[in-house]
Amino acid sequence: MIRCMATDTRGGTNPIPQFPADFLWGVSTSAHQIEGAADKREPSVWDAFTEEPGRIKDGSTAAVACDHYHRYPEDVALLRDLGVGAYRFSISWPRALSPGGLDFYDRLVDELVAAGIRPVPTLFHWDLPLAVDKEGGWLNRDTAERFAEYAAVVAERLGDRITKWITLNEPAEHTLLGHALGTHAPGRQLMFDALPAAHHQLLAHGLAVRALRAAGVADIGIANSHGPTWPASDEAADVEAAGFYDLLLNRLFADPVLLGQYPEGLGELMPGDVDADLKVIAEPLDWYGINYYAPTRVGAPQGADIQFGGFTLPAELPFSVREIEGYPVTDFGWPVAPEGLTELLTSFRDRYGDRLPPIVITENGCSYEGIDDQERIAFLNGHLRALHRALEAGVDVRGYFVWSLLDNFEWAEGYARRFGLVHVDFDTLERTPKASYGWLRDVLRTQS
Ligand code: BGC
Ligand code: BGC
Repeated sequence: MIRCMATDTRGGTNPIPQFPADFLWGVSTSAHQIEGAADKREPSVWDAFTEEPGRIKDGSTAAVACDHYHRYPEDVALLRDLGVGAYRFSISWPRALSPGGLDFYDRLVDELVAAGIRPVPTLFHWDLPLAVDKEGGWLNRDTAERFAEYAAVVAERLGDRITKWITLNEPAEHTLLGHALGTHAPGRQLMFDALPAAHHQLLAHGLAVRALRAAGVADIGIANSHGPTWPASDEAADVEAAGFYDLLLNRLFADPVLLGQYPEGLGELMPGDVDADLKVIAEPLDWYGINYYAPTRVGAPQGADIQFGGFTLPAELPFSVREIEGYPVTDFGWPVAPEGLTELLTSFRDRYGDRLPPIVITENGCSYEGIDDQERIAFLNGHLRALHRALEAGVDVRGYFVWSLLDNFEWAEGYARRFGLVHVDFDTLERTPKASYGWLRDVLRTQS
C-alpha cells in the first residue's frame, strides 16, 4: 500500500489557512447509509435492490447499518465534540411516509439544536420509496410532483428549527449509476434512455424549491456532484470525448439549474414541455452545493468495457475513462488530486459568472482502512488548502462538509469502503474516532 501524502502538500504541516469567520464547517451522512431500523419504515428501492443476489459486493444489507436511528444521541455528541457548526443528513422519504416516521427527525433535529449544531437535511439521497418506483419512479413525471408534496410536509413539520435545506443529492450519479448503468438501485440499464430520470429529478428539485419557499423556509440549495474532466491527450478525439463527459457530469445538471437551459441540444431528448419545466428548474437558489471527490481523465472510446471507480462502463459509450497516473489513490482507487477542487471552483465561477450563487462544498472525502488514518488527514489537509486557494482566487465559497461522519453502507460496495472520520465496528456498532477526527477537531479549534 502506498502510504500517501496528498500530492498537494504546499504548506506541509503549517496550520490550515484561516477561513472567513462565518464559514460553515460540517460533516455529511445519508439516511440509508447510516440509519438502519429498516423495519420501522416503508421499503425503498435500495432494499429491493439489495435483496437481488450479487448486487452488493460483500452481500451485506443496510437493515441495521450504523444503527444511527437508535444511537443518534451518541452520534450528535461526536459531532459536538468535533466542533462542527452544521450537520448534513438526509431524510428518508420512505420513513417520512411511515406512520410516525418524521418523529425520528424531530428528535434528531432537537438533539442537534440543543448541541448548537445547525441541521442541514437533504430531502432525497437515492432511497426512493419502492411504491413510488413501482409507478415508474423517476421515469414518471408524477414523481416530481409527489416529491414536492413530501418536501412541503417535511417543511411543515421541521421548518421551525431548520435554517438550511438541500433538495436532491447528486442526480447525476443517481441517473448514471441507478438508471443508465444499473449498478445502483433501482438497477435500470437504460443507457441514454435514462435521460428522462435526469429531467424528472431536476423538475422535482425546482418544484421542491417552490414548495419549500411556499411553506416559509429559506436558504435552499442542491448537492450536485462535479469534478474537472481532464482530456487524455490534446488530440481532437480525446478532447471531444472529454467535452462530452463534462457535458454529462457537470453541465447536464448545472446548466438547467443555474442558466435555465440544457446544454448542446440535450433538451430535445427530454420529455414533456421542457421550456416550461426549465423555468421551474431554474428557480433561483440561495446557494449551490458541490460534492467533489476527484477529477476524471477521459479519452476517445477504446472499444472495451472499463472498470472504473467500482463499476463497469460499457464499451459502447462515446468516451472512455483513463487512469490518472502520478497521483496517490484511495482504497477505492480514486486519485487524490486536491488541485482539482481549486480548478473546479474557478471553472464554475468562469462558466456561470453572476448566475452562480455562493457555493458550499457539501461532500468531500476518501475511503481508507484503519483508525490511524494518516492518508485521510493528508487528503483533508490538501483539499482544505486547495479550497482556500479558490477563496483567494475570489470564488465565493461559504462552507465545507466532510463525507462522512461514520463508516457506513457504501451502496453497492457494502461496508467494504470506509469513508468515516469515526470508525464503526459493524459487529458491535462501537464507534471509535479515527486520527482524522482528532486532526479535524484541532483544525476547527483554530478556525472561527
Ligand atoms: C464517484 C464520484 C467520483 C469518481 C472518482 C465515482 O464513482 O461516484 O463521486 O468523483 O468515482 O473518480
Ligand atoms: C454520495 C455518497 C457516497 C459518496 C462516496 C457520493 O457520491 O453522495 O452517498 O457515499 O459519494 O461514494
